[in-house]
Amino acid sequence: MKSVVIEQPGTLVLAERPLPAPAAGEVRVKVKYASICGSDVHIWHGHNPFAKYPRVIGHEFFGVIDAVGDGVDASRIGERVAVDPVVSCGHCYPCSVGRPNVCTTLSVIGVHRDGGFSEYSVAPASNAYTLPTTIPDRLASMMEPFTIAANITAFLKPQPQDVALIYGAGPMGLTAIQVLKGVYKVAQVLVVDRLPERLELAQASGADRVFNNAEVALAAQLEGVQPTLIIDAACHPSILAEAAAIASPAARIGLLGFSGEPCSITQQSLTSKELSLFTSRLNSHRFPQVIEWMEQGLIQPEKLVTHYFSLDEIERAMTLFEKDPRTCCKVVLEM
Ligand code: NAI
Ligand code: MN
Ligand code: ZN
Repeated sequence: MKSVVIEQPGTLVLAERPLPAPAAGEVRVKVKYASICGSDVHIWHGHNPFAKYPRVIGHEFFGVIDAVGDGVDASRIGERVAVDPVVSCGHCYPCSVGRPNVCTTLSVIGVHRDGGFSEYSVAPASNAYTLPTTIPDRLASMMEPFTIAANITAFLKPQPQDVALIYGAGPMGLTAIQVLKGVYKVAQVLVVDRLPERLELAQASGADRVFNNAEVALAAQLEGVQPTLIIDAACHPSILAEAAAIASPAARIGLLGFSGEPCSITQQSLTSKELSLFTSRLNSHRFPQVIEWMEQGLIQPEKLVTHYFSLDEIERAMTLFEKDPRTCCKVVLEM
């Protein structure tokens, strides 16, 4: 089978690899579509601290089960499935409190173990979620990015009367906008980015007001509006201090960033307004929820997808995704 392998940081090859056999408790998926994420690019360039090499990348993928390991019901062969990349032990402390995404022995498909930019991929059977026929193949790899928004909003508990502010209108910001508007019916969703093209996508995904902070700082454009719910989906370390400064008292702030750089913030700026900070990593069993949202038409993944490429064009697809955020948002690979 053909697989996209990062042999070592900087070296991406489309390699011929042996067909994997599903281990006990696993299924093998004949992958049909997979989408590119920033973290795939980071693993390619050696900027993901969790990655081990060589690695078949890809953690957003969809396909059809074509073989099962011991203990898995053979009637699952033929099922259309989206795969949750979060593989957890099920019994450590975080797992026992419903937080498998931070399992003490967390293994992420496409990061710690081989992933879905491949003609076939294996995964635990319980990570393979059957999709209803109303979700088309071409959009079925897009469930995972929405689980990130599902996870962080589960902490933030959005309310219709919130004034929400989202930093960054990349895939993470856009999924958050759609979930705040479509699922939680938040009346006002404000979005800030420095690229006008990204702000247009934000509006298409339902943003009520957009701000460009490339030249003028956001605070100077808000005219006293104090957001009650803020999501940092741009993830520059400087954003938290700005978010705390513009937030309403009693606001909640959600963070998605993984930067290793320190961010400088005073206790006073947080405590004087009694701000709540939440962080969110990947997702904790959020696939069923996202599948339901998609089935009910509450979210529109097609609004994020700008390009389709074949697996053979992987290097071109990854390069476009990385270098051209003005024309490119989600890039989907067709196997
Ligand atoms: P992206 O790079 O496509 O989008 C980021 C957007 O933020 C861009 O449109 C950029 O123009 C904008 N931006 C950058 N600095 C800004 C600033 N100071 N003010 C306003 N806008 C700014 O990336 P994507 O895929 O949307 O991911 C966003 C972040 O989320 C990444 O840092 C990624 O590491 C993180 N992430 C976290 C996850 C988690 O589970 N915690 C999962 C996936 C991504
Ligand atoms: Mn992703
Ligand atoms: Zn665990």
